Amino acid sequence: MADKPWDGRFSEPTDKAVERFTSSIDIDKRLYQHDINGSIAHCRMLGKCGILTSDEADAIVEGLEKVGEEIEQGKLEFTDRLEDIHMHVEDRLSVHVGDLARKLHTGRSRNDQIALDTRLYLREETVKIINALLELRRVIVSFAEKHSDVILPGYTHMQRAQPVLLAHHFMAYYEMFARDTQRFREALERIDVMPLGAAALAGTTYPIDQAYAAELLGFSKISDNSMDAVSDRDFIMEFLSAASICMIHFSRISEELVIWSSSEFRFIEIADAFATGSSIMPQKKNPDIPELVRGKSGRVIGDLVSLFTLMKSLPLAYNRDMQEDKPPLMDAVETVKSCIDIYCRMLPHIRVNRNVMADAAQRGYLNATDLADYLVGRGMPFREAHGCAGRAVTYALGKNSELHELTLDELKSFSSLIENDIYLTLSSKALIDRRRSYGGTAYENVSSQIEKAKRQIAQEMER
Ligand code: ARG
Repeated sequence: MADKPWDGRFSEPTDKAVERFTSSIDIDKRLYQHDINGSIAHCRMLGKCGILTSDEADAIVEGLEKVGEEIEQGKLEFTDRLEDIHMHVEDRLSVHVGDLARKLHTGRSRNDQIALDTRLYLREETVKIINALLELRRVIVSFAEKHSDVILPGYTHMQRAQPVLLAHHFMAYYEMFARDTQRFREALERIDVMPLGAAALAGTTYPIDQAYAAELLGFSKISDNSMDAVSDRDFIMEFLSAASICMIHFSRISEELVIWSSSEFRFIEIADAFATGSSIMPQKKNPDIPELVRGKSGRVIGDLVSLFTLMKSLPLAYNRDMQEDKPPLMDAVETVKSCIDIYCRMLPHIRVNRNVMADAAQRGYLNATDLADYLVGRGMPFREAHGCAGRAVTYALGKNSELHELTLDELKSFSSLIENDIYLTLSSKALIDRRRSYGGTAYENVSSQIEKAKRQIAQEMER
């Protein structure tokens, strides 16, 4: 075989530094199985269309399968001289089928080939991520269920606002990860398009059958425009957008777990097996997993920005710049998968200090709104009731006590409408139970949200 499949018009060999600089094999060797599957489908299609004889097609397919096994077993040596995975596979194929290997590339270009490989890769990885997210959602739901009666303060501006169920708090993350799953599914629709047949950019003169190749590779759509087929990286940007949003959700839950495990909060304790220590301070137990996940969210957003910047202003059709799409894409895929995986493992090992949480929910006047609502229930206009409750808070602050710790006489001094039943009204449990608006934190609401989530997960698992 000639040294390079494109060197016919060249009169001197490629400089070694250029080979090193332009090579993508370190990255795209990861795509070998997809490259081989794509080539097998292409070859079968050429056979079906009479562009190759069926004997030729059979021999090439058999050879490609052998190459796949050899790479799998680590028998193939990768070299910059052969630039990328496409050329490695073809070069190795020639060892098995000789000059016949040179017919495989008929009606195809590396431009549609790399677009195909990337789509096959991303389709597979996106399905894995969707399944992993389903598992994470299952873990969150069972965490919520296990702590169905734990109460903690809900915050706004990081100030204690109103008590909520811990289950409600976690189910908020369930919602986020459910939307992430949806976003990945929607991205999948646009990943699932076959670019083969575009060749370099203009299509091919051979009488190919793209529908047949698409069927073999399980694509539901074929690119409508050959120039778009080789230039489109929207599907990567879309995937990275979904990945970035998902990582932002991870960064938010991670931030909370870090804060909650501080001595200042002591809301939770992460199991020893999922925390690490300090080499200097013997007392330390650090929440490294949520911290790292929080940090990795920055990486994935960086991957997204890389792709946006890479694609911005690129003229049609293929440009070698586009080779730079794979490192950020693969980095994001691996990072997202590893974060989902570690969270699935860590969450069940979080110990909840329910008393500390409950106590926090009882201090800081989280029931002031409900004192006002109580007065409204007895005929006072809300604005007036708000003022009354505010004065009661100021009075209690002065005594360093809580509203529910004031005597009935003290409370009555703010309004004669207040009766003994106020104490029941002001308990955290009652506060929670009254918030029955759809999506609110009332016990029944949260348990029906949990049931709904379980049904949703079961349904999605069947898909
Ligand atoms: N290695 C290239 C990439 O990843 C694929 C081959 C591109 N085609 C070319 N004519 N160099 O984008």
